[in-house]
Amino acid sequence: MIELFGRKIGYSDSGKGRVLVFLHGFPESRVIWEPLTKALSGSYRIITIDLPGFGDSECIGYVHSMDAMADHVKMLLDELSLRKYVICGHSMGGYVALAFAARFRNHLSGLILFHSTAAADAPEKRTDRDRAIAAVKADKRAFVFQLLERLFAPENLPLMTEPLEQLKRIAGNTSPQAIVAALEGMKIRTDYIAMLPELEFPVLFIAGKKDVIIPCTSIQAQAKKCREGEVLLLENAGHMGFFESPVTSEKGIRGFLRKCFGKK
Ligand code: MLT
Repeated sequence: MIELFGRKIGYSDSGKGRVLVFLHGFPESRVIWEPLTKALSGSYRIITIDLPGFGDSECIGYVHSMDAMADHVKMLLDELSLRKYVICGHSMGGYVALAFAARFRNHLSGLILFHSTAAADAPEKRTDRDRAIAAVKADKRAFVFQLLERLFAPENLPLMTEPLEQLKRIAGNTSPQAIVAALEGMKIRTDYIAMLPELEFPVLFIAGKKDVIIPCTSIQAQAKKCREGEVLLLENAGHMGFFESPVTSEKGIRGFLRKCFGKK
């Protein structure tokens, strides 16, 4: 953990070589990337970052916009003197990665949107966010626990006891302010569909066939808009492919990194 401009930022830094940055989703922390970090840090330098309010990172306001979170990420990567990297964002982390691409595109060698989308919230989804914010204020624990079960494909749940317990611990330790600030930020996020054709690096969309949070149906069309877009469809995963289909996810990410960085 380091303190930059008076803010604590939680992160991990392991391995050597070309750099892959992992950004977690909502309401998670960098801990979710531990298995992939272990698998990939023999070949790459892996940075995992706690987004504001999550894990060891402090809140930076009452609305955590995707832009403000992207600035938080950039501040840390600059501090580590990193200039060029691939960013892989899970869901909300993917929204942050897109905001990063809009602001600091020249630093990217590639982008992985893991169960994420370049589309902004539809009006009904914004109304759902307001309901979610009210629910968090009433009973944070009940809200997050109910949400976490929906992240996995129902048939995978019996095998997911450990990840689910881990996620409950993370969410249980996250403050209501951080959860509300992230929901507010996701609600007002920019639509980046029009940016996709401008991206001059490869983009990988990893989608779960059984994902009820980010349905895989619109993802193929988004990949087609990219100059170098591709989709990895995880047949047996919901919204948590790195836990539900770890081997296929790792293989897909490795292949994509070779494309971004050259053979390894
Ligand atoms: C996430 O998994 O990061 C969030 O559920 C994404 C969202 O709510 O849009």
